[in-house]
Amino acid sequence: MERADLRAIYQQGIAALEAARDLDALEEARVRFLGRKADLSNLLRSIAELAPEDKRVVGRFGNLVKKELEAAYDARHTQLEQAELVHGLAKDSVDVTLPGRELPLGHLHLITQTRREIEAIFIGMGYEVAEGPEVETDYYNFTALNTPEDHPARSLHDTFFVTDNVLLRTHTSPVQVRVMEKQRPPVYVIVPGKAYRRDSDATHTPMFHQVEGLVVDHGITLADLKGTLEQFAKAMFGEDRRIRLRPHFFPFTEPSVEVDVSCMACNGNGCRLCKRTGWLEILGAGMVDPNVFGFVNYDPEEFTGFAFGMGIERIAMLKYGVSDLRLFYENDLRFLTQF
Ligand code: DAH
Repeated sequence: MERADLRAIYQQGIAALEAARDLDALEEARVRFLGRKADLSNLLRSIAELAPEDKRVVGRFGNLVKKELEAAYDARHTQLEQAELVHGLAKDSVDVTLPGRELPLGHLHLITQTRREIEAIFIGMGYEVAEGPEVETDYYNFTALNTPEDHPARSLHDTFFVTDNVLLRTHTSPVQVRVMEKQRPPVYVIVPGKAYRRDSDATHTPMFHQVEGLVVDHGITLADLKGTLEQFAKAMFGEDRRIRLRPHFFPFTEPSVEVDVSCMACNGNGCRLCKRTGWLEILGAGMVDPNVFGFVNYDPEEFTGFAFGMGIERIAMLKYGVSDLRLFYENDLRFLTQF
């Protein structure tokens, strides 16, 4: 073993360690020049078997070369580690000042929005919200609403029957009876919910929504009904709206009326929306028929009341200018997301 060999090991080792481009390459160079099977390690291990002359050279310079290589390794290791850290930070950096990617967010269906708007208006007047079953008996849907069997009004309802006596309610009015059965006056309730009729065109769908209203108290008059509905119309359609009552017929109210609101498109002057009349029909109403009180044991001598029923779809169509009711249920996002 010559000094020349050690010099070669030193030169090649330093060159390899310094040339390593990353930590993997550096580790490879370390194994090659400083590992257990490296020439230098073999040499240092066999020192005892060397000739006395070589022993001296290897003993002195061998360990020196080893220290130098180790120092070179440490220095390069630190350098590469730094570089990898810097590179990693640059690569994974997040610019927190960039605007985030917007996630699409859904919203309430226009019918739900409108229902809640109607509810809020009446809750604001002190009403409570009641609900009832959509699968209803003949008794609640018709009989107790003063519509006995064979009454001509029954045939106007296009009823979906489940059995002879069970049906999908054709209006929310049966809940009037259910509420009065459970509660003594004063009654101030609204009843939002679904109703069903065999009917389908631009202004009818087999399932639709109504809000029923019922007030029973001492001394309730038609004037209370008119004032209440005028308040509602202004809150829903704007302060400039007026209402008018037209005589009508419903079996469960006497007298009965249909209620129109002055047209919001032309302010009552007459336009296409109101068919030149200046008025738009928004609901049916009336004074609760004493016969209905008879079914729930309310004394018509002591109490009077009014009731009304409106279609939520119709209210929404008028308020938001929707011309075809079926649009509400086709789930076309181009339509739904406008609201
Ligand atoms: N139930 C009626 C319908 O669906 C609407 C209605 C009219 C409800 C007059 C009422 C009322 O409470 O008093 O056509």
